[in-house]
Amino acid sequence: MNEENNKFWSGRFEQPPHELFELLNASISFDWRLAPYDIQGSIAHAHMLAGIGVLTKEESEQVENGLGQIMTEIAQGDFELLLADEDIHSAIEKRLIEIIGDTGKKLHTARSRNDQVATGLALYIQDQVRQHLTDITWLLESILKQAQSGESVILPGYTHLQRAQPVLLAHHFLAYYEMFSRDYIRFWRVLEAARVMPLGAGALAGVNYPINREETAAELGFERPGVNSIDDVSNRDFALDYLSAASNLSVHLSRLAAELILWTSAEFGYAEIADAFSSGSSIMPQKKNADACELIRARAAKVAANHQGLTSLLTGLPLAYNKDMQEDKLYVFDTTDTLLVTIPVMAEMVVTLEINAERMRTAAEEGFTLATDVADYLAGKGIPFRDAHRIVGQLVRKCIDENKKLDQLTQDDLQKASPVFDDSYYQLVDLQAAVERKDSYGGTAPRRVAEQLADAAQRLEGIKKALTELE
Ligand code: ARG
Repeated sequence: MNEENNKFWSGRFEQPPHELFELLNASISFDWRLAPYDIQGSIAHAHMLAGIGVLTKEESEQVENGLGQIMTEIAQGDFELLLADEDIHSAIEKRLIEIIGDTGKKLHTARSRNDQVATGLALYIQDQVRQHLTDITWLLESILKQAQSGESVILPGYTHLQRAQPVLLAHHFLAYYEMFSRDYIRFWRVLEAARVMPLGAGALAGVNYPINREETAAELGFERPGVNSIDDVSNRDFALDYLSAASNLSVHLSRLAAELILWTSAEFGYAEIADAFSSGSSIMPQKKNADACELIRARAAKVAANHQGLTSLLTGLPLAYNKDMQEDKLYVFDTTDTLLVTIPVMAEMVVTLEINAERMRTAAEEGFTLATDVADYLAGKGIPFRDAHRIVGQLVRKCIDENKKLDQLTQDDLQKASPVFDDSYYQLVDLQAAVERKDSYGGTAPRRVAEQLADAAQRLEGIKKALTELE
């Protein structure tokens, strides 16, 4: 064997790897993050090997202690990451052999890096998803709190970013509650997808030993081993599911962030973000910028790109393992790092947000947000809705020309527009009355919003309970 080549696979090679190839080939610069999961997987594998007599009980203990020591070294920053070790799996195995000697060389029996790395990644994703679920719960709680304090605050709802119809602030926040509770469910499904264990698939075909995959799966907290070893080492669906859920969530975060940016502008003046989540300008002393929101919005682009990136990477790959798949982790790790910051920041920013209910109400009073209600009023008096729409459109035109609000139109103005108008018109063009009329299921009427708040609060309890059972 070639002396300069100390790779585990060096036996059939006459030349050592070119240093340029090593640069390309090594994943240790990023996959060190799988270390705890790799060690966890190796310990379970060693237990299983002891169970089938490949390792003695003492040997399995030696392996476990050695791996424990490596974990400590890593935690203390004493573990050296060398490019020549290729990846974290080889680095750990090499160190194990240094620590416990030849017994360490038995660990890779009935195992390949292909099933090993897929297992590590699945465990990693499970762990991160648990954290994301906790953080989403925190965000849901923050949103619900804002919704609860906005039960009697009216603001204009928008379409095309033009004032459309008045809604309750609680109703508006609860729309985000719905989005993020769907995200919660999506991540829950990712967890299910990541709980099928690849370990035991070997390189692809299965292994020549009477291994007990059920036992290993149970020890590692997987629900079950995969049913097809070729699929087990090729499958990255759980990683794609993870990125897809992350991307969906990030889209929602970006929409909320964008609204907060608008709301906190002087033009809207609907809210103020806490100083702790804002920054100033190096030149303009008066500035308070919604940087946190802008960055959350920007990170959504990155998460979406990560989802696209892994989708592209996997597209067209023939079975089974291909080295392309080594780079799956780049998309996953970057996404994790992003979500570990964006969700908590949004949760804290939302709960500390100061609402300016006055400004919201004033804005709702302007912009003719009750025009549809007036059209419905005329329709209720027997005028076909299409005609009613035109009549009210003309009244709005008149108000714009005369700088009036709808409730400032005189009886005379109204009579000219249509003889069916009577005094009840003035009770109609009232914001509170208008929201109360939106009493359809899911609508903005206080009674309906109270139902939605109660339902959201109840679901949050269920979510919290499910979370504690996860831990
Ligand atoms: N570091 C590799 C990865 O992340 C390990 C698998 C290498 N397997 C192989 N057959 N060369 O995918």
